[in-house]
Amino acid sequence: MNFPTLPGHHRPLLEIPKLRREVKPLRLGTLSIDPPIFQAPMAGFTNYVYRQIVREFGGVGLQATEMISAEGFVHQVGGLKGTVERLWGVESEPRPLAVQMWDNDPDTLAEVGRRLAFDYRISVVDLNFGCPVRKVSEKAHSGSYLLKNPSRVGEIVSKVVKACAPTPVTAKIRLGCTLTCITAKEVAHVIEESGAALMTVHGRVAEQFFTGSADWDKIGEIKASLKHMPLVGNGDLDCPSKVVEAFNRYEVDGVMIARAALGKPWLFKQAAQALKGEVPMPEPSLAEQKDLLLRHHKAIVERFGEERGNMLMRKYSCCYAQGRSGASKFRAHASRCSTSAEFVAIVETWFPTDADIHPD
Ligand SMILES: Cc1cc2nc3c(=O)[nH]c(=O)nc-3n(C[C@H](O)[C@H](O)[C@H](O)COP(=O)(O)O)c2cc1C
Repeated sequence: MNFPTLPGHHRPLLEIPKLRREVKPLRLGTLSIDPPIFQAPMAGFTNYVYRQIVREFGGVGLQATEMISAEGFVHQVGGLKGTVERLWGVESEPRPLAVQMWDNDPDTLAEVGRRLAFDYRISVVDLNFGCPVRKVSEKAHSGSYLLKNPSRVGEIVSKVVKACAPTPVTAKIRLGCTLTCITAKEVAHVIEESGAALMTVHGRVAEQFFTGSADWDKIGEIKASLKHMPLVGNGDLDCPSKVVEAFNRYEVDGVMIARAALGKPWLFKQAAQALKGEVPMPEPSLAEQKDLLLRHHKAIVERFGEERGNMLMRKYSCCYAQGRSGASKFRAHASRCSTSAEFVAIVETWFPTDADIHPD
């Protein structure tokens, strides 16, 4: 499975540090993001079913869909993996909810933003300036590719803000395209001056994909250089302690969590409790996690059908088992599974039962 894992030296910090400042809800116009903990957009993962499971545990101030292509939205293309598919459930889902989109054409993005804001009535329109995937960056000159072109970023943000008002428009960036071309500060200022309500920074450059560690010092420097726009820090947060440390050390206004919460959808709740100075809820027992995985499977198959649902569950299964003793055996079986009957049998037989954390 080629899903990127958190770097090995990023072990969860077991002790929760004391929160050294007050963490306030984030206000974007009339919207209150409380707590200021964001569920990241993740293509192929943060679909309706995942969002619902996260919502059940709670602790998230703002949830996001999978990223959509603005061009795909206009032309309604992309079949099963396309835009329409990715927006399934959005119209009737509880708010607040953000939809993220990518393209490099300000007018296309403004038109799609307007429709998301007024037809779908979503809470926040988010712009992607961080995607490192070739299809989006090198081929379509969008996502992280635009970090080389701050003036185009400014044009996009201005037009989308105008088209969506009063719905808040936010942006998500990486530090730059390459380690020798870090443009995040310049881009951040343009985003702020162009009227974005908030910006998220993932502390890596595009060429790193998910290697190395997120550079939180750089995130802190960008925050210190902004005039008024709130900044959300993102990268490698995999336990409540690291969330508290992000607020303590880097003055961020919010945090965003992605990979670590795929197999631990309760992480947001734990982080929210830690930010209130409460003891975070214990992880569900492995038996409860197994039941959750089976429930996740049932909902995914109901939503996507037997064939695609079971394909999708291969990815989630690996996330649920990650870091557990016996995970590799479970993964080997789950990653070949193609029917629901097989899936249930594999989970019943191979889902880790040993509570020891073991990175196999
Ligand atoms: C499978 C996968 C899909 C992702 N899709 C998106 C996306 O659609 N839009 C986006 O802005 N970031 C996307 N990201 C990046 C995450 O939102 C986040 O910035 C990154 O994973 C770092 O956070 P983490 O260390 O908490 O995982 C994706 C990441 C992964 C692993």
